[in-house]
Amino acid sequence: MKGIILSGGTATRLFPLTATTSKQLLPIYDRQMIFYPLNTLIRAGIRDILLIVAPEHSGQYLNLLGSVFKSRGVHIYFEVQKVPRGLAEAFILGAPFIGRDDVTMVLGDNIFEKDFSDEIRNFEKGGLIFAKKVPDPERYGVVKFDEDNNAVEIVEKPKEWISDYAIPGLYVFDNRAVEAAMTAKPSERGEIEITEIHNYYLKRGELKVSPFDGEWLDAGTFDTLMEAGRIVKEKEIYKNFDPMINDAIFEFNEELKAMAKKRLL
Ligand code: G1P
Repeated sequence: MKGIILSGGTATRLFPLTATTSKQLLPIYDRQMIFYPLNTLIRAGIRDILLIVAPEHSGQYLNLLGSVFKSRGVHIYFEVQKVPRGLAEAFILGAPFIGRDDVTMVLGDNIFEKDFSDEIRNFEKGGLIFAKKVPDPERYGVVKFDEDNNAVEIVEKPKEWISDYAIPGLYVFDNRAVEAAMTAKPSERGEIEITEIHNYYLKRGELKVSPFDGEWLDAGTFDTLMEAGRIVKEKEIYKNFDPMINDAIFEFNEELKAMAKKRLL
């Protein structure tokens, strides 16, 4: 299983914060947001991770993550996405990295309370995505279930209500996701929507959609960014990190301190 974190985009709703850094490098309580999706993958045992970033922030990501994971057996690869052309473009940019493997993709701004390790480790084939009841489904990819809880329809940001179940940014696919992305038609807004990939598997009866418990936070606005930090602190979600990530952050901090000391000498 390979891992992809999609961390591109311009996050205009968070200007001016995102004029100087990437949204996913903004803090959620005591660490950068990017450590949350990284944790989702690392604690599920994934050791090869492709980080897709916007060109203007690539140096910052390299500085933060480029060296401290290597010695811990986690290989982080970097790919630049010049223009965001939809989430599913990640499987095209990432095709050489994915090779013939399965892939779990997590969006760089999706923070989960739940540990999805079992679901990811036990994945066999097809597609596995998740669902959460939300008050504002029109903001998301949405899934409609029938009476037997089978997914029957998936629509990206539906203008007309179909269901209250939003699909969060965590996707587990077998290798066919690459082919599905390469053959998908861009939407009206010119993007290769992730829902195209969901529908590829849904049509073949090979998509599992699993509702889940616990907080799902996105931090797309000033208010939700602040709220995410507050909830992470209050519910102690920041304590759910794989020890390897805490060690890596500690090492990075120590390096920074040593460098700062040198400057003062
Ligand atoms: C994207 C996806 C959407 C998904 C959401 C989860 O939307 O297109 O299907 O529900 O992420 O965060 P975006 O937030 O990029 O508008």
